[in-house]
Parts: sequence; structure tokens; C-alpha cells
Amino acid sequence: MTNRTRTATALVVLILWATLASTAASTRTRWTTAQLEELRSMSITELPPLPPDPTNRVADDPRAADLGRRLFFDTRLSSNGRVACSTCHQPERGFQDGIALAVGVGTTARRTMPIAGMARSPFLFWDGRKDSLWAQALGPLESPVEHGGTRAQYAHLIAAHYRRDYEAVFGPLPDLSAVPGSAGPAGDATAMTAWSTLNETLRDLVTSVFVNIGKAIAAYERHIVFGASRFDRYVAAVTAGHPGDDVLTEDEIAGLRLFIGRANCSQCHNGPLLTNNEFHNTGVPSRPELPLDRGRLTGATTVVGEEFNCRSRWSDARQRCAELDFIVTGAHTLDRAYKVPSLRNVAERAPYMDGGQLATLADVLDHYNRAPAAVGGHSELRSLRLKSIELRQLEAFLRTLSGPVLVDGRAAAGATP
Ligand code: HEC
Ligand code: HEC
Repeated sequence: MTNRTRTATALVVLILWATLASTAASTRTRWTTAQLEELRSMSITELPPLPPDPTNRVADDPRAADLGRRLFFDTRLSSNGRVACSTCHQPERGFQDGIALAVGVGTTARRTMPIAGMARSPFLFWDGRKDSLWAQALGPLESPVEHGGTRAQYAHLIAAHYRRDYEAVFGPLPDLSAVPGSAGPAGDATAMTAWSTLNETLRDLVTSVFVNIGKAIAAYERHIVFGASRFDRYVAAVTAGHPGDDVLTEDEIAGLRLFIGRANCSQCHNGPLLTNNEFHNTGVPSRPELPLDRGRLTGATTVVGEEFNCRSRWSDARQRCAELDFIVTGAHTLDRAYKVPSLRNVAERAPYMDGGQLATLADVLDHYNRAPAAVGGHSELRSLRLKSIELRQLEAFLRTLSGPVLVDGRAAAGATP
């Protein structure tokens, strides 16, 4: 071989290698039209405008939101003066607390949920036992292990410290002079006895103030949203025809491919918030130290009979309550089914699941890979048989879903995308 042919051969080999390598790269990153559509549907930019909440007439009143914000952080709304919503929903932690079972006045039986984007959720709590943000907020206030106070106590607190702002939004406060300092249908024996001796008119006056506290807090929570993540920037790039490989790494892209493909995650985690807003049994283990939690099976029945649901006289809804009209109760499929959480910012909020049963994202992926039998009801999962490299790629992808949590457009917490 002459020098020249040797050079020519080397050149041909080089060109061939370069072509093969670039084809390999572009097959890795090329998405079909259907996949591009699916990716677009998961982008935060695809969120429709926040729908109105007909059950809460002050949902979009900025004065209500401002009052709600102050109540959200006020520890006087508790039996011991030390617990506010923000004790568990800490803005600097994406409105979460980073522990397995939430701790207020006592220890609860579930893990704290993030709040961002939840104004779009038809049902609240892991078991969906509330059907509006304002009704949800009233739960922890009267829970003996969360805020531990009573509705009469809260009404007096409003009269003493928030009278002017409350009246600007809701009109004149009722006369509470005949109402004892602490009374309510939930609470200690003294508070419950005091409540039972109040006549119905006084009880309703107290409850109306209590309900309005929930409506103000809900107005504030409607402003807490997820901002764009690296994943969203990738979707913007690929749907505009760019390769996007300067936004996500090869492993992250491979993880995304598994997420919407073989690993079947987008069956439940879909749409811009990566949740279908439904309830599924995924065989998550129970917490052995607690009574068996039946999840949605109990939650669906509770919300139908709930004191503050959409059909109740405390709701401002004048139209039908479609979610309650079509609710499924009592079905076997609801046993140990839990609300599908948003996966936005999921890497920022270990431990995972309704009772913080799984410590890390790797543990979560191992759970999906094995798909163990459920301890109650039936798990909808099938084992995935993914290789360890694929599990690492899925985890790498989940980490691209982190972005800021925004309140009124300003970052409350989280990574800048
Ligand atoms: C002691 C800690 C604690 C306190 C205090 C607390 N929460 Fe929670 N929050 C939780 C836990 C735990 C859950 C899930 C409980 C469940 O499913 O049973 C939750 C769930 C929620 C949810 C449901 C989110 C979803 O996706 O369904 C919202 C909204 C919320 N809390 C708002 C509030 C507000 C508003 C307050 C104050 C009035 C408050 N929380 C007080 C721990 C707390
Ligand atoms: C059949 C519906 C379904 C499928 C499929 C599914 N998930 Fe989930 N996912 C859920 C439900 C329900 C929960 C909450 C379960 C609980 O807390 O008990 C959850 C919880 C999670 C969590 C924990 C979030 C948190 O804040 O605690 C992560 C992470 C997660 N899923 C990722 C995935 C990934 C990755 C896949 C694909 C391998 C996947 N999911 C497939 C329904 C599903």
C-alpha cells in the first residue's frame, strides 16, 4: 500500500465512523411525531389558564389572597401557638417538610404533600377526602395532631387580629361575644361540650368565619405554582426542531424515552403536572406501626358526606358539582389507591409516597421495577424488568423535572432551570 492509499483508506474509515456515530446519535435523539406531541403535552407551558373555583367566591380576590397568606404563616392558629400551615408546608422546601410522617401538635399518619399547582386538582389529600382547596384547609386546622385548635378559637383570633382585612373581603364579622374562647365539633372534651351547648345560630356564625378562613387561605394557595424546569426547556428545543442535546444529557434523554415508553410511567404521570389527577393502587407497602390505611376507598366515601363539600351550604357553587355527581365509591379498585402526585420537583422532596415509605428515588424505581403485590386491594403495576443502567437513566430524567416553585411569579424555592 502506498502512503497515498493508506491515507485515503484512513480517511474513508474516518468518514464512515463519523457517519455511523452521528447516525447513532441522531437515532438516539430523534422523536416520532406522536412522541413529540406527547412531550409537548407534558410541558409546563401547556397548562391552560387556572379555571375559576365556583365554590369559593373570593378565590381570585387579591385582598383575600393577601389575608390568606398571613393566615398561612400564623402560628397563633393552633392549640400550642407553635403550628402554622408553613410548619409543614415550608416555602423554602417547595412547601414540603422533608420528613416521612408530618409533625404538628402531634405526629400524623401521612406524609406532607406539596401545594404548588394543586388549585387544579379535583380532589385533595392522598385519599382525596376533600373536593376544594378551602375545604382542605379546614381539615388540618381542626385535626388534633396538626394545628389542634377549634373553630371558635380561630373566629376569635380573626376578630382580635384581622378584623379590618377580614371585613374588607367578607363583610361585617358576626358578634361573637356569647361564644366561648374554645369550642368546636372536633377538639378536646371541653371544646366539644362547649360546642354542644351553643345554639345553632351561634354555631353557624362561628362556622361561617371558619369557612372564610379556608377560602382566604385557598385564594393564597392558588398563586403557588411550578416554574419551568430543564425538561421544559428540552421540550421547547425538540418541538422547535433542535436536537436539545445541549439541554439534557444522553442518559436523561434515554430516561425520558423509558418514562413515556417501556417503563409506562406516563400512563399515570401525564400532562403538564405529570399527574392524571386520579387514584391508583401501586402496591406501596403500608407502615406497620399504623392501622392499615385504605386510601381512596375511605376518602371517596368521606368526601361525599363531608361537612364542607361542593354541595354543602358553605360552598358558593350555584351549578352542579360534577366531580361529586360522578364519583365512584365502594369499589374494590379503590382499596389502597392513592392520589397520583405531580412529579414536578420530585427530586427535591424525599422521602416518598403517602407515608414516606420509600427513602430515595432509587428505592421508588426499584419498587416500580419489582412491582410487589399490594398489602390490600390489587396493585395495578407489572414488574418492568429494567436493567440497572435503565433505572439510573430514569432517575436522571426525574431529576430534570426540578425548577423553581413560584408565588406570584417570584421564586419561593427550588433550582433555577
Ligand atoms: C402537621 C403538618 C401539616 C400542617 C400543619 C398542615 N399540613 Fe397540609 N398536609 C399535611 C399532610 C400530612 C398532608 C397529607 C395528609 C393526608 O393525605 O391525609 C397534607 C396535605 C395538604 C394538601 C393537599 C395537597 C394535595 O395534593 O392534595 C394541601 C393543599 C395542604 N395540605 C394545605 C395545608 C394548609 C392550607 C394548611 C394550614 C391550614 C396545612 N396544609 C397544614 C401536613 C400538614
Ligand atoms: C398506575 C399508575 C402509576 C404508574 C404507571 C406510575 N405511577 Fe408513580 N405514582 C402513582 C401513585 C398512585 C403514586 C403515589 C402512591 C402512594 O403514595 O402510595 C405514585 C408516586 C410516585 C413517586 C413518588 C412521588 C412522591 O412525591 O412521593 C414517584 C417518584 C413516581 N411515582 C414515579 C413514577 C415512575 C418513574 C413511574 C414509571 C416507572 C411511575 N411512577 C409509574 C401512580 C403511578
